[in-house]
Amino acid sequence: MAYGFSYLKKISEPKSTVLITDENVYNAHTKRFKGWNSIILKPGEEYKVQATVDAVIEKLIEMEADRNTTLVGVGGGVITDITGYIASVYMRGIKFGFVPTSVLSMVDASIGGKNGIDVGVYKNMVGIIRQPSFILYDMIFLNTLPDTEWENGFAEIIKHACIKDSAMFSELERNSLKNYQSRQKTVCELIQRNVKIKAAVVKRDEFEKGERRLLNFGHTLGHALETQYELLHGQAISIGMTYACQISEKLTGFKQMERVVGVLEKYNLPTYASFNKQKVFEVLKMDKKRERKEMNYILLERIGKGVIRTISLKQLESIISKF
Ligand SMILES: NC(=O)c1ccc[n+]([C@@H]2O[C@H](COP(=O)([O-])OP(=O)(O)OC[C@H]3O[C@@H](n4cnc5c(N)ncnc54)[C@H](O)[C@@H]3O)[C@@H](O)[C@H]2O)c1
Ligand SMILES: [Zn+2]
Repeated sequence: MAYGFSYLKKISEPKSTVLITDENVYNAHTKRFKGWNSIILKPGEEYKVQATVDAVIEKLIEMEADRNTTLVGVGGGVITDITGYIASVYMRGIKFGFVPTSVLSMVDASIGGKNGIDVGVYKNMVGIIRQPSFILYDMIFLNTLPDTEWENGFAEIIKHACIKDSAMFSELERNSLKNYQSRQKTVCELIQRNVKIKAAVVKRDEFEKGERRLLNFGHTLGHALETQYELLHGQAISIGMTYACQISEKLTGFKQMERVVGVLEKYNLPTYASFNKQKVFEVLKMDKKRERKEMNYILLERIGKGVIRTISLKQLESIISKF
């Protein structure tokens, strides 16, 4: 935990390591990449696709990467997802590790072993669950992270608070983004707390048979919105969380919607959106959480207590049409 990037040399021999990053991270931290074999990708979700996987694999063959090579994803969630995926299929699987550089990848994407790519409008449609050998945290990367990307990451932090940690929710209410951005120790503690929440859930349910589903709070509708509209992942799930609260009011008697909306707004995240319900419902029906004619939807009983409820697609369509 929080060792500093230079520690990477101690865990992974530079000669047999290939770093995968994107242009933004590389340009902002070029000196850290000195002495490492690196593959630099174009930034953005639209590159989290098979064509990028093919291009990286060709590069790896050119670089003569073999079964002893370790791939290290240095970047946000797009980079960690795609690195983990490539490492899992290249030569039937080689070692990989992560250095997450965005708040979102630190608290969420790099943890839990889900690695994959998008297919058309379907997010993370292809992938595997395979754990990285290591995750190295260096808070120095956050110094260059744009404000909107901080907000994007805080959506997942607020999600963790909603489903698991009411005390952290209160802390987020009291605090502010500015405060976290200017105090490295405070943000480091917050990130550690979130890593622990996610890692504990994944440890108890790696293959998402039960509890791990809670981490999808806000994501069912969120993913459908994210691919149809130009939204960042955090913005999309923020809207998804708002609607999940609204469904919770109907189905679990949840009464704290205002506080959830309040915190999301405090961290500059969008809460309501007008959207084409039919179009979004069509994408939503393909969600991985769907099981035949029913869908597992994550709702809140109260702040700090997420629950999994089965909703029929029919009932869901009727609720969404009334939004
Ligand atoms: N595998 C999982 O369990 C999991 C969980 C949550 C999210 N995700 C995935 O993560 C992705 C979203 O993550 P993200 O928001 O980190 O995406 P991202 O990788 O696109 O990073 C966001 C932006 O910030 C830039 N950036 C990252 N670190 C920077 C730094 N230190 N300085 C300057 N710029 C920096 C990137 O270049 C990019 O433009 C989505 O694809 C989502 O599906 C995966
Ligand atoms: Zn997410």
